[in-house]
Amino acid sequence: MTGFVVAIDGPAASGKSTTARLVAERLDFLYLDTGAMYRAVTWKAVERGLDLDDAIALGELVGDTALTLEPDGQGARVLVDGQDVTDRIRTPEISRGVSAVASVPAVRTRMVELQRAAARSRRCVMEGRDIGTVVFPDAPVKIFLEASLEERARRRRDELAARGVSQSLEELRREILERDRLDSERDESPLRRAPDAIPIDTTGLTIDEQVAEVVRVVERALSEPAGG
Ligand code: CDP
Repeated sequence: MTGFVVAIDGPAASGKSTTARLVAERLDFLYLDTGAMYRAVTWKAVERGLDLDDAIALGELVGDTALTLEPDGQGARVLVDGQDVTDRIRTPEISRGVSAVASVPAVRTRMVELQRAAARSRRCVMEGRDIGTVVFPDAPVKIFLEASLEERARRRRDELAARGVSQSLEELRREILERDRLDSERDESPLRRAPDAIPIDTTGLTIDEQVAEVVRVVERALSEPAGG
């Protein structure tokens, strides 16, 4: 079987990465973090000193960039032109710039091509903003993860703290809201829940519970003839 995609979408810091990675591990599917791809392009643009509102320059940049996600025990290493940038794409600076880069049509076209190619021959859990709406509108499983703003800011603060980066809850709340606004209001592939996506609010759930819930949905879909 090819192309069985579990699409997980949702707003910033809603638990997509952790959930998607653990679901993929549990089911032995490929895990693909599409946000990491947009972050990687943003990192290269910042490195080059590009204006992040310059769509033409960003389109050229993306055409000239080799992007690889290499699965490892923790998720995936992100390589830009052979250079490992896994940690460098998670800084507050990149988080602030990524929505602008991700709104550029030429950037999205290239990323979506890579995403579709990655899932061509493998079962895959793919997470992002537009997986169930644009990248794989026919995905047999679509999940939309949500959580309260307060909870999302707390999770992001702890995640950053674990990597030695300190950012206040208040600032994180502001940045998360702003990124959600930009991602939802853009013309190109805005963040939306696909009508057939299953919403899961993770605010009061443990990681184990949210992973189990998604695995249940996937196993049900796999056991249906149409899903197999
Ligand atoms: O981890 P977090 O939820 O904060 O963000 P992410 O998944 O790493 O995505 C970073 C940014 O990439 C988002 O804010 C979007 O602007 C963009 N993105 C997108 O446009 N489409 C996707 N499929 C995934 C991410």
